[in-house]
Amino acid sequence: MSDLATVILAAGKGTRMKSSLPKVLHPVGGKPMLQHVLDAAKKAGSARSIVVIGFGGEAVRDAIGEQQAEFVVQEEQLGTGHAVLQAKPLLEGKSRTVMVLCGDTPLLTGELLHELLKAHVDSKAKATVLTAILPNAAGYGRIIRGADGSVERIVEDKDATDEERQVREVNSGIYCFDTEALFSALSEVGNENAQGEYYLPDVLGILRRRGERVWAVAAEDSADTLGINSRSQLAAAEKILRQRKNEALMADGVTMGPYVHLRPNTKLAKSVKIGNFVEVKNSNIGEGTKLPHLSYIGDCDMGAGVNMGCGTITVNYDGKKKFRTVIGDRAFIGCNTNLVAPVTVEDDAYIGAGSTITKLVPKGNLAIARSRQKNIEEWADKRK
Ligand code: UD1
Ligand code: CA
Repeated sequence: MSDLATVILAAGKGTRMKSSLPKVLHPVGGKPMLQHVLDAAKKAGSARSIVVIGFGGEAVRDAIGEQQAEFVVQEEQLGTGHAVLQAKPLLEGKSRTVMVLCGDTPLLTGELLHELLKAHVDSKAKATVLTAILPNAAGYGRIIRGADGSVERIVEDKDATDEERQVREVNSGIYCFDTEALFSALSEVGNENAQGEYYLPDVLGILRRRGERVWAVAAEDSADTLGINSRSQLAAAEKILRQRKNEALMADGVTMGPYVHLRPNTKLAKSVKIGNFVEVKNSNIGEGTKLPHLSYIGDCDMGAGVNMGCGTITVNYDGKKKFRTVIGDRAFIGCNTNLVAPVTVEDDAYIGAGSTITKLVPKGNLAIARSRQKNIEEWADKRK
């Protein structure tokens, strides 16, 4: 669906993070929250993303970049409806369907958005909202359905009656709209409510009163729509993302060692073993190579069939620059070796345990770079 665009709301301050970094830039699973949302939208087939920025907007624009998204500034945060209105000039007459998402929902997946989109298209609705059923719905907008089960409107927690507050189906803040219907209804949204804000969810009630079709789909797993407001929720999201990644890797035949840290630009060939307390960064590790325990390997090109003894590290940083270590095929690196980069260990070379290697170790050589052991006879008796 090439005529699909996405608006991502990210102008809010995120006060509860207690941070000078804009909330949507807090990293989770190795990338900013907002990046996860952008990726999910793209995966679902969105051709354009428009991010509504406000608080810390310049930092958000710099971090994400103009190649990935267009940015519009909401000078004053007057509500979610007002935020979407800022994207009107970029969308009207250009994209037939628009998804509206929030920048602080990093667990969102392309699959879930695809389902939302499909429901929107199949139902021929003017607006479709993604809902979630929560055991504790406090704070969320509630989905108010009519006698026939169809969605009538959304009421915000602060505006709801006691009876409405009993509803456990909530607005996830994720929607799909017919662009023309969205902006036409938004022009009618007022701010006479408990928060004095222009509420985007009011659009659903307005469209419904006009006799238009409004639809809702419930997310199978409400965790996917989780909005992050605090560092504690961010940590919970991190855990979920890591578990998802682990599940996918295990499904692909990877056995997980605990306490492994694989950092960016790490490429592991087939049948590599990375054991506990091993950190690998910006390195290529060849087929069948073993790094069984307690190592730091950074900026290293390692061949196939290498055996890396316990406690071995690459000394890759002189305080200013990073240097590479090159290790040939079938090299045998003794325990507790320091490889002071830039340095090369050629094919089939051996290194004695406890060595500090600063020079080339030629092919097939044994390098020992440690002080010799000296035994002092009867030392203990003399000491007495
Ligand atoms: C909103 C919904 C609520 C839903 C909940 C789901 C409204 C009025 N209510 O409530 O029904 O259950 O999300 O999490 O929409 N933002 C702007 N500009 C603004 C205001 C907000 O960009 O002027 C952005 C925020 O940065 C945030 C998102 O919009 O990313 C949601 O705003 P927030 O104030 O958190 O809405 P909720 O009160 O959580
Ligand atoms: Ca709010």
